[in-house]
Amino acid sequence: MNWINGLGRGWKALVAVACVLCLLVTPAVTVKHENFKTCDQSGFCRRNRAYADTALSNSKWQSPYTLDSSTVKFDKGILTGVVDKKITNTDQTVRLPLKVTFHESGTARVTIDEEKRQKGEIELRHDSKARKERYNEAEKWAIVGGTVVSTGAALNKDAEKGSTRVMYGPGSKFEAIIQHAPFGVQFKRDGETQIKLNDRGLMNMEHWRPKVDKPETEQKEGEEAVVAESDNIAEDESTWWDESFGGNTDSKPRGPEAVAMDIEFPAYQYVYGAASHAGPLALKETRGGDGKYSDPYRLYNSDVFEYEMDSPMTLYGAIPFMQAQKKDSAVGVFWLNAAETWIDITKSTSSANPLSLGIGGTTSTDTHWISESGLLDLFIFLGPTPQDVIGAYGELTGYTQLPQQFSIAHHQCRWNYVTDEDVKDVDRKFDKSKIPYDVIWLDIEYTDGKKYFTWDPMTFPDPINMQKQLDEHQRKLVAIIDPHIKNEGGYSVVDELKSKDLAIKNKDGNIYEGWCWPGSSHWIDCFNPKAREWWKTLFRYDKFKGTAKNMFIWNDMNEPSVFNGPETTAPKDLLHHGNWEHRDLHNINGMTFVNATYDAILSRDKDEDKHPIRPFVLTRSFYAGSQRLGAMWTGDNQAAWPHLEASIPMVLSMGISGFPFAGADVGGFFGNPSKELLARWYQAGAFYPFFRAHAHIDTRRREPYLAGEPYTQIISQALRLRYSLLPAWYTAFHEASTTGAPIVRPNYYVHPSDEKGFAIDDQLYLGSTGLLAKPVTKEGQESQDIYLADKEKYFDYFDFWQYEGPGTVSVAAPLDTIPLLMQGGNIIPRRERPRRSSGLMKYDPITLVVVLGNSGDAEGTLYLDDGESYEYQSGAYIHRRFKYSTSTSSLTSEDVSSPGKKTKEYLKLMEKVRVERIVVVNAPEGWSGKKEVEVAEEGGAKSGKSGKAELEWHGKVEGKAAWAVVRDPGVRVGEGWKIQF
Ligand SMILES: *[C@@H]1O[C@H](CO)[C@@H](O)[C@H](O)[C@H]1NC(C)=O
Repeated sequence: MNWINGLGRGWKALVAVACVLCLLVTPAVTVKHENFKTCDQSGFCRRNRAYADTALSNSKWQSPYTLDSSTVKFDKGILTGVVDKKITNTDQTVRLPLKVTFHESGTARVTIDEEKRQKGEIELRHDSKARKERYNEAEKWAIVGGTVVSTGAALNKDAEKGSTRVMYGPGSKFEAIIQHAPFGVQFKRDGETQIKLNDRGLMNMEHWRPKVDKPETEQKEGEEAVVAESDNIAEDESTWWDESFGGNTDSKPRGPEAVAMDIEFPAYQYVYGAASHAGPLALKETRGGDGKYSDPYRLYNSDVFEYEMDSPMTLYGAIPFMQAQKKDSAVGVFWLNAAETWIDITKSTSSANPLSLGIGGTTSTDTHWISESGLLDLFIFLGPTPQDVIGAYGELTGYTQLPQQFSIAHHQCRWNYVTDEDVKDVDRKFDKSKIPYDVIWLDIEYTDGKKYFTWDPMTFPDPINMQKQLDEHQRKLVAIIDPHIKNEGGYSVVDELKSKDLAIKNKDGNIYEGWCWPGSSHWIDCFNPKAREWWKTLFRYDKFKGTAKNMFIWNDMNEPSVFNGPETTAPKDLLHHGNWEHRDLHNINGMTFVNATYDAILSRDKDEDKHPIRPFVLTRSFYAGSQRLGAMWTGDNQAAWPHLEASIPMVLSMGISGFPFAGADVGGFFGNPSKELLARWYQAGAFYPFFRAHAHIDTRRREPYLAGEPYTQIISQALRLRYSLLPAWYTAFHEASTTGAPIVRPNYYVHPSDEKGFAIDDQLYLGSTGLLAKPVTKEGQESQDIYLADKEKYFDYFDFWQYEGPGTVSVAAPLDTIPLLMQGGNIIPRRERPRRSSGLMKYDPITLVVVLGNSGDAEGTLYLDDGESYEYQSGAYIHRRFKYSTSTSSLTSEDVSSPGKKTKEYLKLMEKVRVERIVVVNAPEGWSGKKEVEVAEEGGAKSGKSGKAELEWHGKVEGKAAWAVVRDPGVRVGEGWKIQF
């Protein structure tokens, strides 16, 4: 939800009871550009861009940072030293401790801090209580693994004088070359340079300095190392101290302290990541020109409602992880900094060799990272595959949580279902229309006057009964709980927040008060462990009365959104636990709140019974690591075609950024979608990992059963498709939870050798299934061109029409059709019985679709567990690999699990779950006369089935592949078996 409507909510609340229709008059709005800074309006960004301009316009520019050779030490996988910078016209040197850590995983980390110089020198202004240290706790929140230091990393004795070389990584194929003067690092793989730091000399650690009243001409940067012209870098002191924007003044008690570095990816033409932005997956250049942005990509978590399409403007979450891709090679960097960050991207093409007769040069990508404060701390991943890079990043920041099965099914949300009877009525109508859904959501209006942990006694008098009705079909409720706590006397939550001193403070150390949904509010400071402990107590069933075990939580507004704050968020000089300034940790703030909520839901159920279930929390704001805690959605979009179109690259971008449990509001949050748009959006949503319909309070009701025919049927079909593929989705989530792999995957990830597909971001592969979808995102479109990267056969999911790659094929896409292909060589698990909710499908039989391609072999996996508890961690799951081999004409099921103490019990429970159908697409012609297949289950006739099953043959028709069906082979999903064709 957004703030501009929020400002209107005051009067709305007053008239709401009397005049429900009055709610429909809020005028349409679009993003308020002027509420958000450009680089030029953000002092440190402007300063560093100017620094870059000076450096890059001067061919003799040399970076003023030097690694003092006498300080360099290498011990047990860690290199340390001190990087110096002389302050001109003083005898002072800024000393910047350097640490380069080589990890067992092959990931390297470069950390640069700032040493205090002289006592008293950086005393703060305003008697501020802000901590006088560069923020060094981002890792505490973001990093959970992958930090075992390498024992194999070793100095390379051949290093030239003035440099240090370290060999590391798998097979010691990686090398870091640390150049001392000027300081810079190059990373090589197999002898080839992949990443360069400070090669263009844009490194800039704005050292702390005392405030003096006259201009500090003596503080011009880097006099000695630099040729004369660069002395003309006029430091623009106007942005060093108090800085105002939009009527708010940031007091900046520590003055300028930005950190910046240039990171070059030589010979890499494409970069991805730096999520989240509403733009193409392949990041654009940012320093102006045709088709380029003129501002850097910005990461500063904000409530940017009705955001703009194709823009580097910041959104709600920040993942400062970037990958570069060239043919057959991927590398990446993770910039571990939680302050406001900007990233400039430019590309340069080396001039072609004159002898190469018209063959072009190589394009490289240069990036320039600028953060307002904190450490310079970055991780280097050398690939070589996209999964190597994403997996290594996932090892550091954690893999996505294995979610409850219901949470990957269909969610129905609206601001707001207005009473408990309304919720029950919607629930009944879904059933009456036979439309599956798992979760219904409550936005802020369920509360008593925006006081979280309460229910409006007039409109939700009996929440338990409501949750009971939902539970009858194993459905869930998700209710919103935001971080702003209403400042109202007698509200126990705010009373405790104050008395226990757990709120965010203002710069003077008093409780911060701002404006949000409830009006005057305070914000819980989840950086404080005591606040997180307290938060847990609020969710207990005896505390948050009216809640049941099937209720989960939505954390919104956690950037945090502050209606009267600068850029609709918190002032940067607020103070958090440990007296860290908000500026230092802004982008992590949202994640700490979700962390507290996650732990609260977990302990709510742990305290109550012995069978704890996995929490579900949806968040709007996020940072690197948030994937461990739940799902995200792309915030307040609009019911407009371009927003539908943009949702695909946005969701893909989240997938390759380690946070794959992502989706966009189906139907569009603001405005009323046409029925065509709504139907197309459900078809696209069926391929979002997080699949939720949502609508603004001023929109007309649009539950699928209201759409009317043929739309309701079309939407139901899209939902049924999602439900029948839930086994494939859940298997993909399991893979994500163990390897960090994206759930929906862009072309470059699946085909890293195919340069032609590197910029494609409007089609997606589902997990490792070979399913390739390209939802229609344009009005009136009746056919869809799909790009096939490989020389492989693809088949239409619905009618087995055969296509052949490589190249672009055209697929018919009338309104009732989702362009969806199956790549040859895969086996896809499905559950085909229509049910009201996913919970009711738990013991349903499985259908396997075997898709034979060029090789004639096929493979696929299936992961199943109870979909809710942690018992899978004790082995209560089924994980099978299915293989069809053309040489033996047989399909087998192999166990790929690691059994544990609960395995037997679970297999017993699943004993009756069988494979009920096997569909073989592109079946060999030789089967045309075949009537049956041989079935053998492990353990033979005693425990399992052994015998024959019927085979039904369907010959080729027109462009469609031949196919065969094995009916009821009767084999158990949890056992090994073989079917001989
Ligand atoms: C929440 O954060 C704390 C402190 O960093 C950590 O110990 C805990 O494991 C986190 N919880 C989750 C669910 O990640």
